[in-house]
Amino acid sequence: MIKYLGSKRTLVPVLTKLAEASGASTSLDLFTGTTRVAQAFKQTGHRVTATDLASYSLAFAKTWIEIDASMQEHRELEDALEHLNSLTGEPGYFTKSFCEDARYFQPKNGQKVDSIRNQIETDYKGSWLYFPLLTSLILAADRVDSTTGIQMAFLKQWSARSHANLVMKDPGLKVGSGTALQGDAVELASTLAPVDLAYLDPPYNQHRYFANYHVWETLVRWDSPESYGVANKRIDVRDDNTKSAFNSKKTMASSLAKVIADLKCETMILSYNNESWLSRDELFALVETKGKVEILDFDFKRYVGAQIGVYNKLGKKVGEPGHSRNIEHIVLAGPKQTVDRMTAAILG
Ligand SMILES: C[S@@+](CC[C@H](N)C(=O)[O-])C[C@H]1O[C@@H](n2cnc3c(N)ncnc32)[C@H](O)[C@@H]1O
Repeated sequence: MIKYLGSKRTLVPVLTKLAEASGASTSLDLFTGTTRVAQAFKQTGHRVTATDLASYSLAFAKTWIEIDASMQEHRELEDALEHLNSLTGEPGYFTKSFCEDARYFQPKNGQKVDSIRNQIETDYKGSWLYFPLLTSLILAADRVDSTTGIQMAFLKQWSARSHANLVMKDPGLKVGSGTALQGDAVELASTLAPVDLAYLDPPYNQHRYFANYHVWETLVRWDSPESYGVANKRIDVRDDNTKSAFNSKKTMASSLAKVIADLKCETMILSYNNESWLSRDELFALVETKGKVEILDFDFKRYVGAQIGVYNKLGKKVGEPGHSRNIEHIVLAGPKQTVDRMTAAILG
């Protein structure tokens, strides 16, 4: 799975249990990122809508959420992957920008990306294979990158994995139905159809995904932007219209409040982190109009199934917290019966 800051990989088992206990049949993952959570919801049988600001997230959501694996001819994907893997690498924009001017990938792999990405655009645009192939290419590049997981810098020495050859693999399509959308959550929220369950995992701080993952953004847009700085970021990283209200302390709380007020959902799960700008009281205040509120706490780094504390609405702690610097909060809000069922599913 792709390296992605704030990905909820470790919390997926908990979120799956919560989704099942909620009794929902439709759900929304509004800041879907890698789509890990949306995929888990889809696998519980939900009809899922997955949205995000990023172009690469749209590619992931089109691949893993919108496509129903049972409706497609899998052989076509295998053939396309075989064909693209056999192409000879030719240097182009990607090689120059991300292997020579900056050093995120070894040139041999950059050249493969250039050839494959061009071919995807000419041969597969408009076909159902387009987004699965883009997803596969991003995953393949991620496996041979030379970063620590964000694209604000690259390693001084080539990473061990960067020496391997880039190979595209089957991204593994999922059975079920869903919808993928790209857009700003603040604008999208009021336009989305009602769902039983909404999951919100907004950015926690000033670090912008558009800047941190500019290479994936460019790989999907394939728009050869002007760039700047040692990291060779897209010039539009500087533009106001690529900034997110969730990356500013001034605008984050009011934007989240607007999203929560605008969303038409019965039950809500909100992920938040103890190193972020909102306090526990503020979290409660944000969602209490939805009904009953519970906040579950998890040790994000060490989480292997141990839930470390639960707070009731008065902020009284039930359960034993462990020692941790990095606590992931899961806020549940909705009808009392539903929230009680969800809490019980975790506490046992
Ligand atoms: C904490 S990450 C979500 C991680 C995701 N739950 C996962 O497991 O991969 C936050 C996501 O919010 C997206 N984002 C940032 N600002 C946004 C906005 N204004 N509207 C929609 N998505 C936004 C980012 O692109 C990023 O993917």
